[in-house]
Amino acid sequence: MFANKKIVLGISGGIAAYKAADIASWLTKNGASVHCMMTPNAAGFIAPQVLQALTHHPVVVDEFMSGPGWGIVHIDTVQNADLFAVIPATANTIAKIAAGIADNALTSAVLAANCPLFIAPAMNTHMYQNPATQQNIQTLKNRGWHIMLPASGHLACGAVGEGKLPEVAAIEAELQRLLLPSQDLAGLKFLVTAGPTIEPIDPVRYITNKSSGKMGYAIAEAARDRGAQVLLVSGHTNLIPPAGVEYLAVDSAASMLTACLDAYDGCDVVVKAAAVADYRVAEPAAQKLKKADGIDEMVLRLVKNPDILAELGRRKTHQLLIGFAAETNNVEEYARQKLVKKHADMLVANDVSRADAGFDVDTNQVTIFTAAGDKLISPLASKRQTADFILDAVRARLDKQ
Ligand code: PMT
Repeated sequence: MFANKKIVLGISGGIAAYKAADIASWLTKNGASVHCMMTPNAAGFIAPQVLQALTHHPVVVDEFMSGPGWGIVHIDTVQNADLFAVIPATANTIAKIAAGIADNALTSAVLAANCPLFIAPAMNTHMYQNPATQQNIQTLKNRGWHIMLPASGHLACGAVGEGKLPEVAAIEAELQRLLLPSQDLAGLKFLVTAGPTIEPIDPVRYITNKSSGKMGYAIAEAARDRGAQVLLVSGHTNLIPPAGVEYLAVDSAASMLTACLDAYDGCDVVVKAAAVADYRVAEPAAQKLKKADGIDEMVLRLVKNPDILAELGRRKTHQLLIGFAAETNNVEEYARQKLVKKHADMLVANDVSRADAGFDVDTNQVTIFTAAGDKLISPLASKRQTADFILDAVRARLDKQ
């Protein structure tokens, strides 16, 4: 399966390091040429000889390894690699990579790598949830690293919570997806909307919502990886648009509507993950509104925004239209109503009352309702995995046409 694939497997010093042996073995058995690089701490958890025996290649721990045929270890090892996967990635190694520190063979090799990069973080729950670790992971994500979120469960330290290395089979499935990406959406043009809209009150204030854009960006990225041509129309977010995706920044619902209508005729699939303001301020002030003595209340008159999804539904010719519904209650009922009312082909319902789904978090769990009457429930997973779940449903629907 992986003949002619060169994989650098980085292993950092956590208890889950022993699981890297199974992954190295699986990759090798499937034809990959696997080159392991371990941090010195990882070599305290699993002997390099184990990995050497499984991969039939010398394992790099020491940057100054030398011998017949050895050149500059951290440069040569990553040359022509198809993937650099760090499994497990400790908080320390992630922090070093985010900061560009190159103080051992593995971190030096990461800096020298010119191939897709993958990490599977694994650590104690508090270490994982620490803002420093979260920020470092976000930094890597923004740089295009593929991140596999840790699982929850019993950790080696005795704690129960997030931070566990996912099951080896799940990691293998993710590696397979990266090494042999399916091109099942090739030839299709996607329009994906993401993020919040902003509706001005005056030149310095506006009405917006909690959308981070993460769900929409994950869909754009997944569609791109599966071969689609993607236009991402996005409200303001802190995210970096995925490479290879056409990107259009908008602010208000009105500007998002214009961008969507302009692109609509040429699109095959539209995914409306953006959180669009239902109302805008009727008359935004031209100057900054001033606080006045004796005036304790201020009333803003709001008027209804155009419903972009409904408008696209009205104008639909050949497009497959996928809407979202962010609900805090009566999720199924409201989602089904929106599916019909907005003439969508699928409605992805998001229960945003959950702490682990919906706005701003990295995970999601959705239920897809289709116009054909199907109801598909996704597992709680990363937004990228949720994106692939939605795109699988899109592919299945297209196959029925
Ligand atoms: O961005 P994240 O932080 O990752 O969060 C993801 C998300 C929760 C924003 C996303 O998964 C989601 O649920 N997006 C839809 C949010 C929303 O606005 O839901 P709604 O129920 O208000 O709208 C229903 C549908 O109509 C949506 O597809 C929306 O894009 C669309 N709509 C709504 C109002 C409007 N004026 N025009 C629209 O097109």
